[in-house]
Order: sequence, then structure tokens, then C-alpha cells
Amino acid sequence: MYGLKAKPILTEQLRPISHSAPQPTFNAATHLNFIPPANVLTLKDISLPEDVGISPLAVSEPFPLFSEEAIRIMRGEIFTNEVWENCLFSTEFAGCQLRGHCPKYAPFMYDAWKDPKTLSIISKITGVDLIPNMDYEIGNINISVRDGLEGATETAATQEAPPVTKWHYDSYPIVCVVMMSDASNMIGGETAVRTGSGEVLKVRGPQMGSAILLQGRYISHQALAALGGSERITMITSFRPRDPFVRDDSVLTSIRPISHHSELYYQWTKYRVEVMEERLRGMLKVLEEQHRADRPTDVKRIKEFLKEQEEWLAGTNQEII
Ligand SMILES: [Fe+2]
Repeated sequence: MYGLKAKPILTEQLRPISHSAPQPTFNAATHLNFIPPANVLTLKDISLPEDVGISPLAVSEPFPLFSEEAIRIMRGEIFTNEVWENCLFSTEFAGCQLRGHCPKYAPFMYDAWKDPKTLSIISKITGVDLIPNMDYEIGNINISVRDGLEGATETAATQEAPPVTKWHYDSYPIVCVVMMSDASNMIGGETAVRTGSGEVLKVRGPQMGSAILLQGRYISHQALAALGGSERITMITSFRPRDPFVRDDSVLTSIRPISHHSELYYQWTKYRVEVMEERLRGMLKVLEEQHRADRPTDVKRIKEFLKEQEEWLAGTNQEII
């Protein structure tokens, strides 16, 4: 039988008692180990309309991103008592998740994802200038651990990995999944995506320190179980466009059950209002410039803009429950 259903109590074995030694700071020159993906699947490749998302990318093949040293430091940051006491979420969807540890408990991880070099890599592959959606979505950790017995009963005859998630769309436009465990003996662990013609394509899972990028908000996908290896730890960071004028369909549907609401709604409201603020400033500038140049007021464009902002605010409000 498959043993990948997370059992938080077993993860005790992964936890150091504490760590008090000063941690190194993130240095892109040594902690990144980036090699561009050999191949990416575009929306067009999987028969989806090219305007369905914000990027031409559907899903990338795994590509090396962080060095082993960087992964080791990040693991050190999350396996602490503070993180497990304050950031652990256990739901039916995912038995063991750590969320909200950045930047407070995991400054190295936070800096790794905020680093301009990291962001330029993610942006280049997706073709969109991206930033992490909110601090809350930096370095979300999913943990599966299985006990020795289940591992021992598994045989090479085991062929088809069962899904570990249902078919779903993500809440944020683009996600980056990084493998934090030694996956060299793992079988499976693919991401399955559904094409526009209804076929299912499987993208192989990443090795330790490697990543895949997925435009998960617009592509129906599911994670398949990985067999072999005693633990499987993945780190997921979600992104949105940096440019406030680029479409952003973020919602909080799948996020609410796995978040402290006070913090989530603070960060959500702050980001949504900041985007709105920049849009209003931009709009005001154009309005004034055109007026100063004695050009007629572009009523049609103003009404379109205002309608978009009404929808933005309504969407922002709807997500707060
Ligand atoms: Fe997903």
C-alpha cells in the first residue's frame, strides 16, 4: 500500500531539537544553481487558448534552481519548534503543511525568493515580470512522511502512482514547486496536467533543489504520489505580476482553510489596495496629461478603467469571508 498520506507525528523524527547558531544570509552567487529548463510546455502545446492566462507557459520541465547548501539551510529554518508550533496546518487536502514562516522564522528562505536574481529567473522562464503573491505564500512547505513498514512492503511491481490531490486549479496565477528531499530513488511524483483536448500529460517531478513552474490558476492539474524515499518535502511559492496593470486573477479559495485569517486578510488587503493605488495614480496622470494637452476627455476609456476597478474591489472584498 502507499504510505504517502502525511502523518505529522512521524515528522518528529525530522526535527532537530533547536538551532541557535547564526544562519548564513542568502547569496545568489553561491546559493542559486540555476540551469534553464531543457523544455517547457506552452499553453499552445497543450491546446489551450493562448490568452487564457498571463504567461505563454503551461508547465516547465524540472530545472536546477537552488544549491544543496541553500536547501540544507532552508530545511534548518523550517525544522524548528517555533515553526511547528506556529505554522503547521493539517487538513484533508494536505495532512502536513507549514505556512506563514516567512520572513519571521525563515529569513534565508524569504530572501531567497525575494532576491532579484531569483525573480528574474522565474520571470524569464514565464515571460512575465513576477513577484511573490504575498509573504504568506513564500515557501509553503508540504510534507509527506511514511514509516519503514510501508516502505518495506512496497515493491517494484508498483506501477501507477495514485493522485495525492484532486484535479484542481490553484488560487494564484503561477506557482513554483521546489523539491527539498533527496528524490533520486523516488518513482512517480509527477504533475499531471489536462490539455485543452482532454488528454492527460505528465511532467516528471523535480530532484532536490530543482523546480518546476506551473501556470496553475489556468490549468487543471493534479499531483501524483511519489514512491520510494522516506520523506517528500516540497516548497511552493506563488507569484503574481509585478506590473499593477497586468491582469491578476488571484483568489483565496484554497488558501483560507490553511491560513491564519488575521494575517492572511491583512496581507491580501494590503496588496490589493496597493495595486489599486498604483492604478489610480497611473490613471490620474494620463487624465491630467491629456487635459493639459487640450485633448478631449476619453470617456470610453475612463468608464472601462472604472469598471475594471469596481471589479477589482468587489473581487478583493468577496475573498474576505
Ligand atoms: Fe496546484
